[in-house]
Amino acid sequence: MEAEVTAEIAAGRQVLVHPLLVRLTHWINVLAIAMMILSGWRIYNASPLFGFKFANDMTLGGWLAGALQWHFAAMWLLVVNGLAYVSYGLASGHFQRKLFPLTPRAVLKDLFDALRGNLAHDDLSIYNAAQRAAYLALILCGIVLVLSGLATWKPVQLQELATLLGGYEGARLVHFIAMALLVLIVVVHVTMAIVVPRTLVIMITGRTRGPS
Ligand code: HEM
Repeated sequence: MEAEVTAEIAAGRQVLVHPLLVRLTHWINVLAIAMMILSGWRIYNASPLFGFKFANDMTLGGWLAGALQWHFAAMWLLVVNGLAYVSYGLASGHFQRKLFPLTPRAVLKDLFDALRGNLAHDDLSIYNAAQRAAYLALILCGIVLVLSGLATWKPVQLQELATLLGGYEGARLVHFIAMALLVLIVVVHVTMAIVVPRTLVIMITGRTRGPS
């Protein structure tokens, strides 16, 4: 199937790169993640884990109770939307096709090529190994964030989950580390989308007409 898409692109024909469901869930996810992170920073400020706070101007909710309301509201959007994306990704073979195969050697090679500006962008329907690793890491971060968030929210009702994550304090730490990793990868991800803006257009329209 990938070979067919590559041939269509090489022939200059219009092809569908991102199915509607992937685009829709991606942009809803951007909104949900932005609300979760910004309100999460405000909640963190009320009881910081480390010796620093986030600037209040960069947070959402106005105060602790307001931030908690944003966080819980956005959580439903993130979970429902995330379940739709992951179920589609698994059931349709989208993940299998787009994110695999993946080897550490290929990730390292593509990372070095990217740093030297040597990565090919001819066929945007195929993710390079560095992208595949980043998208998988983002999906895993999302899952860890939801699970550690649930364990922090209901540590008594979800005792087994909380224990697995090192208790209430352990779950908080895991939640923070997954947030930090996600923010780091998203910064690189958005930078790459700006560097190759054609990818951004395709993530909106879904289609491309070969190399330009
Ligand atoms: C304003 C912020 C964002 C922009 C502009 C953006 C842009 C893009 C673009 C252009 C692609 C397609 C890349 C390509 O075809 O080469 C993409 C894919 C993807 N992005 Fe983002 N993104 C943003 C935020 C996020 C966030 C917050 C997450 C997750 C936490 C995320 C996760 C993903 C994933 C998993 C894919 C792969 C989708 C698939 O094919 O299944 N993105 N993004």
